[in-house]
Amino acid sequence: MSLEIKPITPILGAEVSGVDLSRPLSNAEFDAVHRAFVTHSLLVFRDQNLSPEAQIEFSRRFGPLMVHVLKGANLEDHPEIYRVSNVKKDGKTQGRSYAGQYWHSDLTYEPRPSLGSLLYGLEVPEFGGDTLFASTAHAFETLSPTMQAMLDGLTAEHHFAHAFRGGANPAARKGDPLDERPPVRHPVVRTHPETGRKCVFVNEGFTVRIIELEPKESEAVLGFLCQHMTRSQVVLRHRWRTGDAVLWDNRALVHRAVDDYGDDQPRHMHRTTIEDTD
Ligand code: OGA
Ligand code: MN
Repeated sequence: MSLEIKPITPILGAEVSGVDLSRPLSNAEFDAVHRAFVTHSLLVFRDQNLSPEAQIEFSRRFGPLMVHVLKGANLEDHPEIYRVSNVKKDGKTQGRSYAGQYWHSDLTYEPRPSLGSLLYGLEVPEFGGDTLFASTAHAFETLSPTMQAMLDGLTAEHHFAHAFRGGANPAARKGDPLDERPPVRHPVVRTHPETGRKCVFVNEGFTVRIIELEPKESEAVLGFLCQHMTRSQVVLRHRWRTGDAVLWDNRALVHRAVDDYGDDQPRHMHRTTIEDTD
């Protein structure tokens, strides 16, 4: 079966068929997948059967993998795999349950943020527990030239703990551990190294403030940007099926989880996170 790429929305996302990620991809196959990843920012691979080793091997072709700071959520033998899970084993949740209930891009609170993430659904609810995605490149391009010029050159502080201190969805604070990572700074607008498109690089989850603005100005501008980026008409909603592997570009998108399902609906995912070495 040959590789086929079908766009999902005109702004972002494509479904890729004819590829089995459990086997090493040929260079030609990988190049086609890589090109689709850069073009569409999000790729959905259906009906996959991925061992931790295979997920790590495929993800590594994009760059080095990051190990999540919440070590308890990582797979013991494979710390590159971070578990998003509400499934309990011996009375203990096996991974991070109800992760990312706020708009964010993965690991922007790290000095070197992430290039992309691959989330693989081993067990998913029959319905509910979708993931939402929005393009930060499209967000920048739909601002006025005046706003674009104002933002370009600004820097923002990012901190993991922000998401748990009322910065984002307050529900996300419940029972979450506080952060051991110090705050970091990143540009508010970043040029994507592979597409050359400018992307808004702030998010509801981890961005605390824009350094060069007064606190009230920063609050208003961040609030506006987060709302602008994630307006309903530009959002892609991924409805999970067991065996879905979803690869997204953290440089070009923000995403959030939706916790509209309960613990009676098991949801168990393996995530690998690729580092941005650019
Ligand atoms: C993540 C994340 C979304 C989800 O793992 O980074 O945001 O739907 N997960 O579980
Ligand atoms: Mn995430």
